[in-house]
Amino acid sequence: MCGIVGYIGKRDAYSTLIKGISRIDYRGYDSAGIAVSINGSLETLKCVGAVSTLKKETSKKNACGTVSIGHTRWATHGKPTKANAHPHLSCDGKIAVVHNGIIENHQALRKYLISEGHKFTSETDTEVIPHLIEHLYEGNLEKAVAAALKQLHGTYGIAVIRAGEKKIVAARKGSPLILGIIGKGEYILASDIAAITEYTKKADYLEDGEICVLTDKGYRITDHDDAPHSHIVKTINWSVAAIEKQGFEHYMLKEIHEQPETMRTIIAGKFDFKNKIPKFGGIRITPLDLKNLDRAIILACGTSFNAGLAGEYFLEKTAGLKTEVVYASEFLCKAEKLSSRDLVIAISQSGETADTLAALRKANSDGAHSIGVVNVVGSTIAREVNSGGLYIHVGPEVGVASTKAYTGQLLSLFLFSLWLGRMRGSLKPAEAEAEMKRLTSLPALAEAALKNEKKIIAIASKFKNATNFMYLGRGIHYATSLEGALKLKEISYIHAEGMPAAEMKHGPIALIDKKMPVVFAVKRDDGYEKIIGNIEEVKARKGIVIAIAEESDKEIHKKADYVIRVPDSTQELSSMLFAIPLQLLAYHIARFRKCEIDKPRNLAKSVTV
Ligand code: G6P
Repeated sequence: MCGIVGYIGKRDAYSTLIKGISRIDYRGYDSAGIAVSINGSLETLKCVGAVSTLKKETSKKNACGTVSIGHTRWATHGKPTKANAHPHLSCDGKIAVVHNGIIENHQALRKYLISEGHKFTSETDTEVIPHLIEHLYEGNLEKAVAAALKQLHGTYGIAVIRAGEKKIVAARKGSPLILGIIGKGEYILASDIAAITEYTKKADYLEDGEICVLTDKGYRITDHDDAPHSHIVKTINWSVAAIEKQGFEHYMLKEIHEQPETMRTIIAGKFDFKNKIPKFGGIRITPLDLKNLDRAIILACGTSFNAGLAGEYFLEKTAGLKTEVVYASEFLCKAEKLSSRDLVIAISQSGETADTLAALRKANSDGAHSIGVVNVVGSTIAREVNSGGLYIHVGPEVGVASTKAYTGQLLSLFLFSLWLGRMRGSLKPAEAEAEMKRLTSLPALAEAALKNEKKIIAIASKFKNATNFMYLGRGIHYATSLEGALKLKEISYIHAEGMPAAEMKHGPIALIDKKMPVVFAVKRDDGYEKIIGNIEEVKARKGIVIAIAEESDKEIHKKADYVIRVPDSTQELSSMLFAIPLQLLAYHIARFRKCEIDKPRNLAKSVTV
């Protein structure tokens, strides 16, 4: 949510910054802006719309500035207008600030600053920051920033520059900030590593409560009272190629097609073939504590929540551990206090989602064991879990609608359940080994599932103008139905509902008519007859049935209007395989509707507020 970039060094600041913010504009894309320090004053450019509009403006500029900050916005306070776009300036135009987060006491601060003579030009919460820094400035920018931060309530990742000073002052509390070290005196600062990888593989992750001062001589990290902090510089392992489209029309399509490969990577990284058990070296819970666990609580939002529902199924069936899945935002409303017999699993692609982070912090303070299932290495959630965790390692996911991270989360959670089942003694070695053997075929099965894209395109073209969709599935495919509906809503703006198949009878069936496509996940298992019964119920009301069904199902075409085939597999593997055609269906419907697939309206890849 909102992307920040800062650059100090000898390259031209305009092009460096524009490249940087273009890489992370999935964090927000309703307006963008840049401030560059040139010859003792600040030059600011802002525009409504995506970074590409800003790029056109900056191309008219002469290359010269070398200290700069930029921003791509996802509006919270104030509409997406030029005035509300960042950077925001102090009254004298000398201090510029870009901000990600929310300043909760902005109204009180604004009132105070106005009474002191400050003039505001935007509706944003952010604008109080440059005015406050200006108010407190006594010749030293970092001191003024530190003093201002002490008065701010809420969350922030900020970068500040001042005309005539060759430095960037950055600080974070609750919003990510990473420093890319290009060389001594040359740095790129960003809210996301995608903006950095092109320039350097060396990264220093700022912690909450820290201030970082970057100059052309070096950088220094301190707390708000100027006490120095020492950090270990980490290596980024994402390549530039991984954040480019590589011939695909959209990132989302590229990421859907990457899934066989990401599955291979996960299996290669998490299999201990010698001992026939998945390996999770990053989890720091003693075998005794693992045995003593009473339950797991999965906390997540959005797609990660849907993955959590499948995780519940894996953990209960395979690891014999009672599991609850709670929306992270709702967890904060619960009165119950957790204990060390609870295992909290925070699932997050970005590792930065504000609600998941807040829920994790509550669980930690209750004394529960917490682990993360995260994609972005070094992200806040990955760092704040108290008992380690696992990275899903699917590489950067740029499309706002999550695809490869979803199947990566499912696969990682299933492997984790096998490991936990073995550690707790609820799963026999031979059972774990048999599951692992079956898992090795998953990438090839995913490849086969992707081969049906032509058929999916034909179905997408038929239903591109539908106004409502229903997605139904049972058991583990309740998660599939929620995720299928979410994908469609996110990128095509068609209203869609996912629910357990049997629940349709308790109200939603009233919506069924000849215009309503109903997508069924039809797995040949104990619930098969029941799902067929639900299909009959839809057909009896003239609804249109699109079935995702296995190759061996020779009956389904007699019941459904359209059938999309996936290879036969186990329950667990089918949770990943059934997701693929639903991702493609949503993608192609959105493409026919000419929607902004990689950057759907109103959404952001990572919701850090
Ligand atoms: C946003 C994104 C979703 C994502 C959710 C949770 O809403 O648009 O695609 O599933 O955040 O994100 P996380 O990074 O925590 O998985």
